Amino acid sequence: IFAAVEMAPRDPILGLNESFAADARSEKVNLGVGVYYDDNGKIPLLAAVRTAEKARLEAAPARGYQPIEGPAAYNGAVQNLLFGTDSALLADGKVVTAQALGGTGALKIGADYIRRLLPGATVYISDPSWENHRALFEAAGFPVENYPYYEAGTRGVNFAGMKARLDTLQPGSVVVLHACCHNPTGADLSDAQWNEVVEVCRARGLVPFLDMAYQGFADGIEPDAVAVRAFSASGLQFFISSSFSKSFSLYGERVGALSIVTAGKDESARVLSQLKRVIRTNYSNPPTHGGAIVAAVLNSAELRQMWEDELGGMRDRIRAMRTGLVEQLKAEGVAQDFSFVVKQRGMFSYTGLSAAQVESLKSDFGIYAVSTGRICLAALNSKNIGYVAKAIAQVVKA
Ligand code: LMR
Repeated sequence: IFAAVEMAPRDPILGLNESFAADARSEKVNLGVGVYYDDNGKIPLLAAVRTAEKARLEAAPARGYQPIEGPAAYNGAVQNLLFGTDSALLADGKVVTAQALGGTGALKIGADYIRRLLPGATVYISDPSWENHRALFEAAGFPVENYPYYEAGTRGVNFAGMKARLDTLQPGSVVVLHACCHNPTGADLSDAQWNEVVEVCRARGLVPFLDMAYQGFADGIEPDAVAVRAFSASGLQFFISSSFSKSFSLYGERVGALSIVTAGKDESARVLSQLKRVIRTNYSNPPTHGGAIVAAVLNSAELRQMWEDELGGMRDRIRAMRTGLVEQLKAEGVAQDFSFVVKQRGMFSYTGLSAAQVESLKSDFGIYAVSTGRICLAALNSKNIGYVAKAIAQVVKA
């Protein structure tokens, strides 16, 4: 049965980790995957996480099956972060949340559920978008198309183009929106533009699916929830996939959630019952450890503060790397203006480097980036930034 199996291409993002691991050069730098490293090049174990883990180890809880949708303590904590503790939607029982296997797992159960609800829908993703969006929704059985988003000339959002395209979509079309820290471009909508998107979704009867993998990496937990709050105020029904991979530095624990906003309590109960069937036939119920740690941190005032401080530290370090890279490129004599790097939000910079330049960074310098020119600023540190700036300077001048 395997004789005719063809070799699949490596994953455009995680495949870089495989190539990077196989690279013997000691000066190599992995700017591919969206992972935060500290100034020593290590993935941090946050102090808030360490504290919660110590307490959990001492309590030595049994590892029974979890509820199919995950525990209420976790799901409630997720809801408070996304919607705010004073949310009317939460008070009215209009939000269904299920723990999921990271942000990707949340997208997957969301996609599978929407496929059952709206089997004829087309899914629209931004141009460009996170590489896995298309693959994931196609794998769930949807045709996937783009709406205009990034404008290379201004390095910002082509909002008129985006809005005009959304305005032509069939009712019931699914629109995937990056709630903050757009991946890969780092170009986000303004608050006013979010309100306009909400209105288009309402007018056209679209199904908004907000992907929120980087809450806290632009301006902070509350300000980064602006898109969620705009949709929450609209009275529309929508989906949110969210993740603690980056904000808690818990990548491998696969801790995320799918939240669905319904029209009311009764609808919520019915939607949850269907979502549970989707989850049960995918992976039965979520794992215990990561979710328990996140819940313990978010449900303790002291640990929550500790976590927000640590998250603020990550945000500040990424900002410092943005400024540092721009300065060092200038110092290396690069004529091209790279000041846009400072304005982009989240972990990434969409550098404008061509696929050939990215290839040359890899082959000549052992510096790995996504072929679209996306680099992860959170992988730069005080030791490698000079090397990376020199390398970029050489490839752009070549
Ligand atoms: C990324 O875009 O690099 C991250 O979201 C990691 C991933 O799963 O691709």
